[in-house]
Amino acid sequence: MSDYKALESELLKEIEAASDEAALEAVRVGALGKKGRVSELMKGLGGMDPEARKIAGPALNALKDAISSALDTRKNAVRQAALARRLMSERADVTLPVRAPGELEGRIHPVSQVVDEILSIFSGLGFSLAEGPDIETDDHNFSALNIPPEHPARQMHDTFYLEPGADGTRHLLRTHTSPVQVRTMRAGPPPHRVIAPGRTYRCDSDQTHTPMFHQVEALVIDKGIHMGHLKWTIEAFAKAFFEVPNVKMRLRPSHFPFTEPSAEVDIGCRRSGGEIVFGEGDDWLEIMGCGMVHPNVLRACNIDPDEWQGFALGMGIDRIAMLKYGIPDLRAFFDSDLRWLKHYGFCMLDVPSAYGGLSR
Ligand code: DAH
Repeated sequence: MSDYKALESELLKEIEAASDEAALEAVRVGALGKKGRVSELMKGLGGMDPEARKIAGPALNALKDAISSALDTRKNAVRQAALARRLMSERADVTLPVRAPGELEGRIHPVSQVVDEILSIFSGLGFSLAEGPDIETDDHNFSALNIPPEHPARQMHDTFYLEPGADGTRHLLRTHTSPVQVRTMRAGPPPHRVIAPGRTYRCDSDQTHTPMFHQVEALVIDKGIHMGHLKWTIEAFAKAFFEVPNVKMRLRPSHFPFTEPSAEVDIGCRRSGGEIVFGEGDDWLEIMGCGMVHPNVLRACNIDPDEWQGFALGMGIDRIAMLKYGIPDLRAFFDSDLRWLKHYGFCMLDVPSAYGGLSR
C-alpha cells in the first residue's frame, strides 16, 4: 500500500515539474499508458488472491483517479500559461499609427481636401450630396437657369461647345455647377437641401484662370425660405471653413440671372506679414455668389413659386483653397508636380470632420 503512496507522490511531482503539454503527455503515458506504471500494477490485480485484491483494487483505482485529475489540472494551467505568454508576445498596440508618417508618400490634393471640408460642413447642416455630369445640355446650363438664348450672360461664360448632334442641338462642358440645381429640382418634389461640388469649364486661361476649375453649389428649396436663412447658412459655413469663432461679412448687391435678389459675399480679412487672418480686419475677400432662387427657375423645374421658395449659392473651390492654405499660383494646382503636392497636400489619414477638426 505504501508503495502506491510512494508512486503517487513521485508521479505528482513529475506532473508538477512538467512545463508544457508534451512533457505532461510523457508523464501520462509513463503512468497510465498501456505499459505505464499504474497500468502494469492494474494488470497484476488478476493474479492476486481475493482478499489482497479487495484492498489493492480500490487503492489502485484511487491512485489512477488522483493521477488523472492531477494531469487534467496541470494541463489546464500549462495551457493558460502558454496562452498568456502568446498574448503578451503578440500584443498589438492599436493606438500606434499604421505607419510612420515619413513613410506615407501619397498626398491628398488641396482641392480634394477642401471639397471634403465643405461636404463635412454642409452635411452637418443637413445637406445631402448631389451630382451632375460635366457634359451638359444648353437647357440645364443656361435656359432653365433663366439665361435664354441671346442673353448677354452667355457671352460671359466663355463656353466650350461640343459638335452639334443630328438634331442640331449642341452639348457643352458645364460652365458652372448651377445646372445641378435644375437636375435636383426636376428629379423629385421639394423640399430640397443639396450640396454639389464638381468640375466646371470655361475657355479662359491666365494666372488666375484655368480652363477646368472647380465649383460648389448649394441649393435649399422649402416653404418660407428667406434671405435670413441664406445669410445664417453662409455665416455658419464661413466660421467652420476658416476655423474662426466669428466672421465679419457683408452681402454686396449683385446680379445673377438665376437669383433675385442676388448678392456677392465678402468676408473681412487682415493681412499681417505674409499671412491672411480671416473673419476680421478692414480688407474684404469675395468668397461666393448667392441669392434667392428666381421664380422663373422654379417654374422651369415645375415648382410653384407661390408655394415654394429657396436660396442658392455658388463658390469657386480652387480660389478658397488658395486663400485658406496660402497657395499663391492657381496653375500649379493642375501641374501634377509631386514636389508641390508634397508641400501643399494633406495626409490621407487626416480626414476632415466637424468633430475631428477640418485641416488640423
Ligand atoms: N453660377 C455662378 C457662377 O458661376 C455662381 C453662383 C452665383 C451660383 C449665385 C449660385 C448663385 O447658385 O446663387 O458665377
